[in-house]
Amino acid sequence: MSQREVLVLGQRCVGVAEELTQALPGWRIITAHNVGEALASIGDLVRPIIGLIHIDVNDIDPLNALENISVAAGVMEWIALVEREHLSAGQVCHFISDHCYDFHTLPLDASRLAITLGHAHGRAELRLRHSRQYSKPNQFNMVGSSEAMKKLFASLGKVSGSDAPVLVHGESGTGKELVAKAVHMSSPRADGPFIAVNCGAIPAHLVQTELFGHEKGAFTGAHQRKIGLIESSNGGTIFLDEIGDLPLDLQVNFLRFLQEKTIERVGSVLRIGVDVRVIAATHVDLGKAIAEKRFREDLYYRLSVLVLSVPPLRERCDDIEILARWCFNEFSLEKNSKVQGFSNKALQVMRDYSWPGNVRELINRVRSAMVMSESRLIRPEDLGLIVENGFCDATVNALDVARGRLERSLIQQVLQLNKQNVAATARQLGLSRSTLYRMMNKLELQKE
Ligand SMILES: Nc1ncnc2c1ncn2[C@@H]1O[C@H](COP(=O)(O)OP(=O)(O)O)[C@@H](O)[C@H]1O
Ligand SMILES: [Mg+2]
Repeated sequence: MSQREVLVLGQRCVGVAEELTQALPGWRIITAHNVGEALASIGDLVRPIIGLIHIDVNDIDPLNALENISVAAGVMEWIALVEREHLSAGQVCHFISDHCYDFHTLPLDASRLAITLGHAHGRAELRLRHSRQYSKPNQFNMVGSSEAMKKLFASLGKVSGSDAPVLVHGESGTGKELVAKAVHMSSPRADGPFIAVNCGAIPAHLVQTELFGHEKGAFTGAHQRKIGLIESSNGGTIFLDEIGDLPLDLQVNFLRFLQEKTIERVGSVLRIGVDVRVIAATHVDLGKAIAEKRFREDLYYRLSVLVLSVPPLRERCDDIEILARWCFNEFSLEKNSKVQGFSNKALQVMRDYSWPGNVRELINRVRSAMVMSESRLIRPEDLGLIVENGFCDATVNALDVARGRLERSLIQQVLQLNKQNVAATARQLGLSRSTLYRMMNKLELQKE
């Protein structure tokens, strides 16, 4: 076993360091008079460490010390050394019960302390192992091991090997941008630029020059040539978020770029060759936008050569706890030192909640709960998830699942009736071909 370490903090503790060294063979004793010394001697820890803190209000402020040191150390367990008569003080009791693994009354009983330290170390090791298990995003820098995400990761691997355009669809906050980045980073273009453009965030009259650039003097105020975002992505990937918001008149320019791999800066007739992979994302139903003549069908087919669907969080309940724990570790440096994890009730409520804002919402709720919680384990109310009338919109989930099943079976039957002809099936179902394709994609339905 590698040597275990105990950080001994405070004047009184340092005074007994010699005694401890004798009494605790196999332990490395690190002594520190104050927080500064403690931080300097522990450095960046990737191992568990036990803190021994003497609670003496005249010496150091125990809570402050513990918070500062725990933030730097990550996984620690604290044991308080306390005079027996101080145990009756409310302040001392609170500190021990909220922040310490155990306490030991003075005078020192070295053999008993050795046992307590051993237990605390075991627990710290367990916590460290547990946190590592959850803290690892996969090769795509994503967290999740539900069946739905496993499928997505498998498709992601395949899509990365190709250079064709990709359309990522999914609700807001599901991780579309993360998926787009993963495709780029796993592709041969990884060393090239990855430029993300939110088509909905650029004012309509600026989209053209932002994407395609302009020449000097192209219009009043064009004092200099400007290289557009597509040209800047040369050799890499451009990610067009909210592609459904691309103004209709620009869609034709964009189509030409996709077809010919060339662009024209505003104010120039010269066509410039660009080598850019396009990944587009949308949270809206493009089929509907096509039907309403807000989106060009030909552009849709060009963009959706490969399609990746990111499922909403409520359809991958198995990932909720994993994401919450990963998030807990991610932000553990910001948390207040009291908070150690999630209560069972909180985990249950998180599983039942419908997460309309998906992973983004989960991260925000957990991060805020970690800072604000007043208890050792995060409770539902810390997450802002209050259970009303005994349920927390679990029914939404059940309805979605039922609807999916129904749609799947209906489409399968009509496809069969029409000998797998998609156009005829779409007509019979009163859908556009693209909507049907999109639904088949979402439901993971293939023609037989
Ligand atoms: N599977 C995941 N693992 C880790 N973080 C995720 C995952 N999915 C989403 N996120 C995080 O959630 C937030 C929202 O993701 P984002 O890709 O911006 O969603 P979208 O583009 O679909 O709105 C980001 O902070 C992102 O890093
Ligand atoms: Mg986004």
